[in-house]
Amino acid sequence: MKNTLYDRLGGAEVIRKLANDIAENHLANPLIKTRFEVVENMDKVKEMVFEFICAGTGGPQTYTGKDMLSAHKGMNVSEQEFIAVVDDILAAMDQNNIGETEKNEMLVIAYSLKGEIIRV
Ligand code: HEM
Repeated sequence: MKNTLYDRLGGAEVIRKLANDIAENHLANPLIKTRFEVVENMDKVKEMVFEFICAGTGGPQTYTGKDMLSAHKGMNVSEQEFIAVVDDILAAMDQNNIGETEKNEMLVIAYSLKGEIIRV
């Protein structure tokens, strides 16, 4: 399929930068930084976020990580933390000069996952 969100984001190269910038934003965000400071292998998480975005936006990559429920189960993620993560994703998209249409589509995808992440 042409014109997938994956292609409009700029494909693997831009999504790789997005995944790294999202992680950096999280580590600088006072609302959620402690969640990520304790993660032992952030490179692995970044790789999984890269695959997750690629696969979820129509790219050819396969997501090899945990499903969202398993990945966040027992963390007791709050609504505020969820919004902070979404804000960091949108900020990373701004940092990479991605357009409003694509940001809106990403927002819808992120929001649709809230039931698998908040207080699970
Ligand atoms: C739209 C929202 C979110 C998405 C798409 C998302 C996506 C992911 C993905 C793909 C992973 C890697 C899973 C794996 O290793 O197999 C992950 C791990 C993780 N997520 Fe999220 N996440 C979201 C929201 C959140 C929130 C709100 C928090 C808490 C503030 C959070 C904290 C974490 C942490 C700490 C890990 C690493 C767990 C570990 O390996 O120790 N996530 N997330």
